[in-house]
Amino acid sequence: MSSINKVTVLGSGVMGHGIAQIAAIAGYDIALRDIEKSFLDKAMDKIKWSLAKMVEKKKLTQTDADRVLSRIIPMTDLQQALKDTDLLIEAVPEDMDLKKKVYHELNKYADSKTVYASNTSTLPITEIGALTDRPERFVGVHFFNPPQLMQLVEVIPGGKTDQSIIDLAINFIVHIGKQPVLCRKDVAGFIVNRIFIPLVHEAIYCKDRDGASMTQIDSAVKFKMAFPMGIFELADFTGIDIIHKATTEMYLRDKKVVNPHPMIKKLFEEGDLGQKSGKGFYEYKGNDYERINLTEDQAQTYNPIKLIAVAANHAAWIISNGVCDIQDLELSLKLGMGLKSGLFKTIDNFGIENIIKNLEHLQQSYGSFYEPEKYLLEYKSK
Ligand SMILES: NC(=O)c1ccc[n+]([C@@H]2O[C@H](COP(=O)([O-])OP(=O)(O)OC[C@H]3O[C@@H](n4cnc5c(N)ncnc54)[C@H](O)[C@@H]3O)[C@@H](O)[C@H]2O)c1
Repeated sequence: MSSINKVTVLGSGVMGHGIAQIAAIAGYDIALRDIEKSFLDKAMDKIKWSLAKMVEKKKLTQTDADRVLSRIIPMTDLQQALKDTDLLIEAVPEDMDLKKKVYHELNKYADSKTVYASNTSTLPITEIGALTDRPERFVGVHFFNPPQLMQLVEVIPGGKTDQSIIDLAINFIVHIGKQPVLCRKDVAGFIVNRIFIPLVHEAIYCKDRDGASMTQIDSAVKFKMAFPMGIFELADFTGIDIIHKATTEMYLRDKKVVNPHPMIKKLFEEGDLGQKSGKGFYEYKGNDYERINLTEDQAQTYNPIKLIAVAANHAAWIISNGVCDIQDLELSLKLGMGLKSGLFKTIDNFGIENIIKNLEHLQQSYGSFYEPEKYLLEYKSK
């Protein structure tokens, strides 16, 4: 990428330090900017730890790791961080008021050549773009956590983004060894969260409505829907704070995208944030990552048809609204959520007629959130 040499990453938290690391591995010079030196020190420690692991696993030589580290310059001075930058990746907390403040500050110091990219998970790209003095040179690049390991990056143009900037973002992502998927429309939840977040809520409704246990539902999700783990387990792994934040933002944008169950807000308010706090849906004893014991036998005791139906309906919405095509949707679910086989294969296994029938029953009992998408009715007649 001849046009990008220096990259500035704003925010050195969970996402920012990981993005800085992978871009430095790809050879870019990085300015990593945060508001306090102590945050940067922590971020640099994490990067050092991760590079040492890569050396241990022979993915990098020690000389390469040293070179990578020397390319990342931590700093608190914004003006210095923005000097000569070709690409700015913003990874500050998911709060529109804070993002407003940050972009107003950027407008004062950034070169006119600098392209802006936001790693927001749920905020509207067009709205953030409008805060900048360059909405045509602004694009969403949604990395997944942890960026060092997750292959997928959703690229989301805002209403005014130039095609050349979309191309530049896609090329950059390929260059840093990730898989870009173009999310053609700036819709709530983009692609992956538009399927994942509503499923977490639906799983709680299934627990209430069907009287099933969490491990029954999770076993069925894992073994019958080809998920890498159960849905409650995945929510705990992701973090209930992240799920709660995404739910709130997505629901604010589009009431049809998620049917919020009050349990998420309750867990969040009680500080039960999942793996990281020791308790979420499940309890966790140690500091190490713990898996929930899910079995094929338990999977046989629960039919996850309602979960499949809700996932199918959202997938149908995404495709019929031109957000992406079926291949990119499957690729996103595989790389962003770890699905072991295609969602539409699961849909076919369970039968589209069965799925539509379940959505119609749910619609009659619980309202229009479950109204089957036209695309599913057409899929049925294919
Ligand atoms: N955590 C995830 O799982 C995840 C996944 C995908 C995308 N995202 C998105 O990435 C963004 C960052 O999330 P995170 O989880 O890394 O947050 P975080 O809270 O871990 O890190 C944010 C960092 O930004 C810093 N910061 C605050 N104001 C700043 C400023 N003016 N300039 C520079 N740095 C500033 C904070 O001090 C903090 O270190 C959010 O938009 C979030 O939605 C998060």
